[in-house]
Amino acid sequence: MQQISDDEGPIHWLDLPNLRLKPKADELNHVLSKLVVQLHNFDEIPDLDQGTTRWLTQLVAHDLEWIDESTAQAIRDSAAHRLAQQCGITARADVTRAVDVGELKIQLLEPGLTTDKLGMKTWGAALVLAKRLVAEPSLLEKSCIELGAGTGLVGITAAKLGAQIVLTDLEEIVVNLERNVLSNNLNCPCHVLDWSDPHSSVLAGQKFDLILISDPVYSVEHPEALLASIAMLDARKVILEVPLRPKYDNERNAVYTGLYELGYNRDRFEYDDGRDDFGPSKYVFSYWTKDR
Ligand SMILES: C[S@@+](CC[C@H](N)C(=O)[O-])C[C@H]1O[C@@H](n2cnc3c(N)ncnc32)[C@H](O)[C@@H]1O
Repeated sequence: MQQISDDEGPIHWLDLPNLRLKPKADELNHVLSKLVVQLHNFDEIPDLDQGTTRWLTQLVAHDLEWIDESTAQAIRDSAAHRLAQQCGITARADVTRAVDVGELKIQLLEPGLTTDKLGMKTWGAALVLAKRLVAEPSLLEKSCIELGAGTGLVGITAAKLGAQIVLTDLEEIVVNLERNVLSNNLNCPCHVLDWSDPHSSVLAGQKFDLILISDPVYSVEHPEALLASIAMLDARKVILEVPLRPKYDNERNAVYTGLYELGYNRDRFEYDDGRDDFGPSKYVFSYWTKDR
């Protein structure tokens, strides 16, 4: 995480405007805009220094009586938002993550309060798979679909590489997914495809050459539901990137077994190193094909 800085460089807390001197709203807004957090890949998150934290806290509590009330409230909200960005991953306010996938630069908005909505943040498997697609674009097919796309890193990368791709996820995730597609100057469709009821999706009955999936299983219900969606889509190829979380060994293996049962052959199986917000992590890439 870094503080966005313009040509003037990052702000040192000693240079923050003294609130006793009644700084103008423009000056406060300028400083606050420079303090906004932007994540970069999965880089370490430096803490806010104490002086800046104290200043932001004072600002949140200040009545800013020299500024009109609606502008003052917006400034207080902005200071509170900046402090909330510093909270732990499951409690922090929304942030933007800039991701470098080889030469590709992708911006992803990650809304706050993601505790029970894992698709609101970007996971390490997505970056590992996105990098692989950039290194091996021949893996992609003309018509692709991504399941459980989350913030869209894999699908957006595939689209930037020229694939026609439909990104899918749960209804509550698709709104942010669409936003991320647009903010990366793309217009690929985003649709609801709930693995627990895939036939209700507008995509039921459509055929794709390739299904892309990153980090899909973290509950006992997931393998069966995911496999039902894969069976419905009946693509010739499936690419899966999963983290090696020991807790979910059974679920991961259930997906592999299910893919064999659906008639897929596993043509490739390779370990990848990566990291996410929680630190370094191991992943496994698998590539599945079948005759249709
Ligand atoms: C761990 S996140 C991975 C997100 C993204 N693929 C990534 O790697 O950054 C799991 C994703 O699966 C989605 N998901 C979970 N259950 C689902 C279901 N029943 N139907 C569709 N998507 C689901 C979540 O919304 C979330 O986006």
